[in-house]
Amino acid sequence: MCGIVGILARDAAAPQLVDGLKRLEYRGYDSAGVATLEDGRIVRRRAEGKLRNLEASLVAHPLSGRTGIGHTRWATHGAPTEANAHPHAAGGVAVVHNGIIENYRELRAELEGAGAVFESQTDTEVVAHLVAQALAAGATPRLAVQQALKRLRGAFALAFVFEGEEDLLIGARRGSPLAIGHGEGEGYLGSDAVALAPFTDAVTYLEDGDCVALSRSGVEIFDEAGAPVSRDAVRSAVASVVVDKGAYRHFMAKEIAEQPEVVGHSLVRYVDMTTGRIRLPAGSDFDFSGLDRLAISACGTAYYAGLVARYWFEKFARLPVDIDIASEFRYREPPLTPGGLALMISQSGETADTLATLRFCAAQGMKIGAVVNVPTSTIARAADVVFPTVAGVEVGVASTKAFTCQLSVLAALAIKAGRDRGVLSENDEAKLVSALIELPRLMAESLHLEDQIEKLAPTFAKAQDVLYLGRGTSYPIALEGALKLKEISYIHAEGYAAGELKHGPIALVDENVPVVVLAPYDALFEKTASNMQEVAARGGKIVLITDQEGARHAGETFATIVVPKAYAFVSPLIYAVPIQLIAYHTAVFMGTDVDQPRNLAKSVTVE
Ligand code: AGP
Repeated sequence: MCGIVGILARDAAAPQLVDGLKRLEYRGYDSAGVATLEDGRIVRRRAEGKLRNLEASLVAHPLSGRTGIGHTRWATHGAPTEANAHPHAAGGVAVVHNGIIENYRELRAELEGAGAVFESQTDTEVVAHLVAQALAAGATPRLAVQQALKRLRGAFALAFVFEGEEDLLIGARRGSPLAIGHGEGEGYLGSDAVALAPFTDAVTYLEDGDCVALSRSGVEIFDEAGAPVSRDAVRSAVASVVVDKGAYRHFMAKEIAEQPEVVGHSLVRYVDMTTGRIRLPAGSDFDFSGLDRLAISACGTAYYAGLVARYWFEKFARLPVDIDIASEFRYREPPLTPGGLALMISQSGETADTLATLRFCAAQGMKIGAVVNVPTSTIARAADVVFPTVAGVEVGVASTKAFTCQLSVLAALAIKAGRDRGVLSENDEAKLVSALIELPRLMAESLHLEDQIEKLAPTFAKAQDVLYLGRGTSYPIALEGALKLKEISYIHAEGYAAGELKHGPIALVDENVPVVVLAPYDALFEKTASNMQEVAARGGKIVLITDQEGARHAGETFATIVVPKAYAFVSPLIYAVPIQLIAYHTAVFMGTDVDQPRNLAKSVTVE
């Protein structure tokens, strides 16, 4: 995870930038840096390692400029060195960045072809050179940034300072959060309210596609088309590094919206963005070549992530998988291979059933792997190898961002297993990894479906029963969709393999039953389309979630939700977003307690 801060200060900006960066330590970092305007010119101080190293550099070489930006880095492209630390600068502009520029390689080649000289291995540096190129061609700073944004593909948040512009900060967001802080004769930018808490509690959250020009006397915000827009200022309640709802009504809404960013952060822990290959995090290395079977166990949503992973491990690594819910796994007394791998999946890392299964497998001589969101949790500490997700704190009892981060980590592990077992070529690895790298952008696009989905809430709210259908890796997503709906709206919902409908569940279908069909336009689409006809023939309300191609081939539906086209491999993460939004808006419409639904707990520490 990376953190961004920008300040138009009354006095020296550098000490305040460091204050803001300290608030971002919860995001982790491996290097940090600031850039300020000293007599109008950009001067940087950057340091590898902990923030205290940057502080030491600033003591030795103080900066007095009143305008500046700062950054904490979690290395994505390029090692955590001083040269790769942000801010990156070129031709009179400096920039800090949180996210992934997917097309940075081709942009870098184009810029180098035009004579740009790069000093780092990062994707971020291409942004500095693109803006510098536009400035050199006579564009104003804001227009130069807007021109550069049009060339970028990916999910990111950016903040800029410009030589000679003492009263100007520019920020932009697409898929990663960025907030404006309002001060008395000062102005601020930050990744979130936590970063801005030392300066102000009056914050404005930018929306996807927004670009902001900040001065000490005011703010101008522009949408993706360049038209001026206004965004509400809210009071943030962040007193310390406590998670804050920000501008969202519920934690669940915030956590759904955070998915492009945190899936990106989880991915960069497992993907070497420079080579486009899987590289497990330090301390999490594992060689799958010696395995002949893989055991997976978890509960609830985490179990559904495991079900998706079974398809991936078996398809891409040719590795047979035994998977079961943790409350059943150990009571079956399954035959386990000593020395084999048992993979436990858990957001909290404290779920009693999963922990008990971990101990059962360990007692059978299995190696224990743990895909967890809390690295200090009991399950993490009991495992032989931890595969961390980087979802950040998940407050909503209904798991959302942790689920898609689990999927992104499991996808990386399945590719690694395929390579280790010699059944996945480098070329196929490259294709699968490039699909993963596109995920933050595609998930950010899926979030734009929210208005359409919110309009369906009344239909779901009056249903007694709702069915979710899917085939292949969409089947576990159907199960997850049903769980999300039932656990926060209390409506009875069931997920089924689409092919299973005709073997009994279709008896439930009539004009009062919404049937959510998850169907990417892939090899299984036609079969699912015929299941949809079976539903339609009985008056069922079909809510189809598909891509453009699928929408063209689908028959009559009650509603069709069109998600971005993606590799079949990553469609589970794309389709997770609309099913989360269906559950969320139905629950909001019904007035249930979205973040703390009745009878539930965030972590079930009893069997
Ligand atoms: C998911 O929305 C539920 N809150 C629940 O099913 C949860 O996934 C399950 O209890 C497992 O929790 P864990 O991931 O912390 O182990």
